[in-house]
Amino acid sequence: MKQTEPIKVMTEGNNLKSYEEAYKNFNWDEAEKAFSWHETGKVNAAYEAIDRHAETQRRDQIALLYSDANREEKYTFQQMKEQSNRFGNVLRKIGVKKGDRVFIFMPRSPELYFSLLGTIKIGAIVGPLFEAFMEAAVRDRLEDSEAVALVTTPQLLNRVPVDELPALKHIILVGAEENDLNDGFYSFEKEMEAASPELDIEWVDREDGMIMHYTSGSTGKPKGVFHVHNAMIQHYMTGKWILDFQHGDIYWCTADPGWVTGTSYGIFAPWLNGVTNVIRGGRFSPEDWYSTLEKYGVTIWYSAPTAFRMLMGAGADVAKKFDLSKIRHILSVGEPLNPEVVRWGLETYNRRIHDNWWMTETGGILISNYPCMEIKPGSMGKPFPGIKAAILDDEGNELPPYQMGNLAIKTPWPSMMRKIWKNEAKYKEYFRIPGWYISGDSAYRDEDGYFWFQGRIDDVINTSGERVGPFEVESKLVEHPAVAEAGVIGKPDPVRGEIIKAFISLRDGHEPSDELKEQIRVFVKEGLSAHAAPREIEFKDKLPKTRSGKIMRRVLKAWELDLPTGDLSTMED
Ligand code: WTA
Repeated sequence: MKQTEPIKVMTEGNNLKSYEEAYKNFNWDEAEKAFSWHETGKVNAAYEAIDRHAETQRRDQIALLYSDANREEKYTFQQMKEQSNRFGNVLRKIGVKKGDRVFIFMPRSPELYFSLLGTIKIGAIVGPLFEAFMEAAVRDRLEDSEAVALVTTPQLLNRVPVDELPALKHIILVGAEENDLNDGFYSFEKEMEAASPELDIEWVDREDGMIMHYTSGSTGKPKGVFHVHNAMIQHYMTGKWILDFQHGDIYWCTADPGWVTGTSYGIFAPWLNGVTNVIRGGRFSPEDWYSTLEKYGVTIWYSAPTAFRMLMGAGADVAKKFDLSKIRHILSVGEPLNPEVVRWGLETYNRRIHDNWWMTETGGILISNYPCMEIKPGSMGKPFPGIKAAILDDEGNELPPYQMGNLAIKTPWPSMMRKIWKNEAKYKEYFRIPGWYISGDSAYRDEDGYFWFQGRIDDVINTSGERVGPFEVESKLVEHPAVAEAGVIGKPDPVRGEIIKAFISLRDGHEPSDELKEQIRVFVKEGLSAHAAPREIEFKDKLPKTRSGKIMRRVLKAWELDLPTGDLSTMED
C-alpha cells in the first residue's frame, strides 16, 4: 500500500493544540455549551450564526464580503441579521410555514445568502440548487421535495416547469421587471423593502429540519439528504479545530451553496465562528482566484482538488504575480488530493494543503488533517474527536491496518443526515451494518491511524468534485431519439479526477458520427446540466448486459481501462 513521507512543518496558530489529547477527552455535550440554547432550549442555527454576533461587539464586523464582475458589497453581522429577518417576514407574509420547503435557484449573490438564512429563521427547510441545473434537474428536485416557494431570477425561470409543479405556489424573483410578475410571483426587492427588519424567530427543536441537499447515488433519481438544526454543533467545532477559525480571519470557501460544502463550510461554520466570509461569484480562472486571495487578504482558503490541479497547471509563475502571503491555512475536499499537489502547494504557497473527507450525508467533516499534526500527502487524515471511523468488511468486522474495505463511521454524530426525503429504504441502505454508517467509499487505515481513500464501491462518478449518478445521465441519454441504450462510467482524468464517458448503441437508422456525438452531448448539457454531460462518447453495436437486462458498467470500465473483466457468468450471450 502506498505511503508518503510526512510533512512535519506545522501550520501556525492552532485552536487545537494536541489532536491526541482532544481525541481522548472530547465530548459533544460539552461543545454545545458554547450556545445559549443549551440552557434556554431555544434553537435556531441561523440565529446562532448571525444574530448572536449582532448582539455583541462583533455587530459591526463584516460578515459577508461579496464580489463578482459587476458587484462588490459588504454586510456586517447586524446588516445580515436585518436582511435575513426581512426575508423571513416576506416568507411569513405569503404564508410559508415551519417545515415547508423553500428552494433557491440562482447564482451566488448576497440575495441568495439573505434568502437562505431567512428561510431557516422561520423554521422552513431550505434547498439550494446550482444555477447550472437545466429543466430536468430542477424539476426532479422541486417535484420530490414538494417545495412551496422558490427564489430565482427571471433569467433562470424558463428552466422551472412551473405549471407541472402543483406544490409550488410562490415564486420570488430577484431582479424582476414589473411584467415578470404574474399571479403567485413576487419581486424580491419590493417585498424586502416593505418587510420589517425585526423578526420573531421561530425557535425549533434541535431535531427539526433545516436544509436539504440533493445528491446522486448509483441508481435512481437524486435523493434529498435531510439535515437538522443540531448539525450546527459539528459545523461550529470542525470550523474551530479543522478550519482553525480565529478572531480577525478572512475566510474564502470557493464552493457554491448548491453543494453541501458551500453551505456547511460556506455559511454555517464560518459564521458560527464569527469570521468574515468572502464570497466570489463568477467562473474560475487562476488570475481571478489569486487576485481574490490578494485583494481581500484571505487568511483561510478552502477549495477542492480539481481547482488546485488547475492552478498547478497554470504554473507557479501566475501565483508569483500575486501577494498571497496573508494565507495561513489551506484545505481541500471533495475528491482524492494527489500527493504531488500537496507538495506543489507547499512550494508555491509555502503552506500545506490539508485534505479532509466527508459527504453530503455526513453533513460535516469527519476525517481530516489538522494544522497541529504531521500530514502524510495522499491521506485524508484522522477522524475528528468524537468520531470513530473504521474499515469494515461486508459482514461488519473491523479490518486491521492496510486492509482495504468499507469506510464506515460509528453512529450517530451531530450533523449526520436524519433522513432521505420520502425514501426510507434508501436511508436504511446506509445503515445496513448495525451501529455503522457505510459510506460507499473504500479505504484503508495505516498503522498510525491515517485513512487512505481508494475509490467508490458503487458506480458513482466524481468529476471535478461533483457527484454524478450514472443512472441519471443514462436516463437522459436514452431520451435522445438516436440513442437505443447507454452505459455511463467515470474515466480517470489527470485534472478532473474523472470525466464522464458514455457508451451508446444507436437506434436503427442512425449512423455514428462526430456531429451526432456533439448533438448528444449538448442534449444532456441542456436537459440536465453541464457537469453531467459526457466529455467522451463511444458508439458500440451492443452494450454488455446481464441476463436480466442491466447494463454492466463494470465491464465497460474494464474495456476502457484495459483491465480484466472479472466474472462474466451473468452476462447475456
Ligand atoms: C468523495 C463532498 C477522496 C468520496 C463534501 C465521498 C473524497 C464523496 C474526499 C462525497 C477526499 C470527498 N478524498 N474522496 N478528501 N472527500 N470525497 O457528497 O467519494 O459531494 O463519498 O460531498 O466525495 O461527495 P459529496
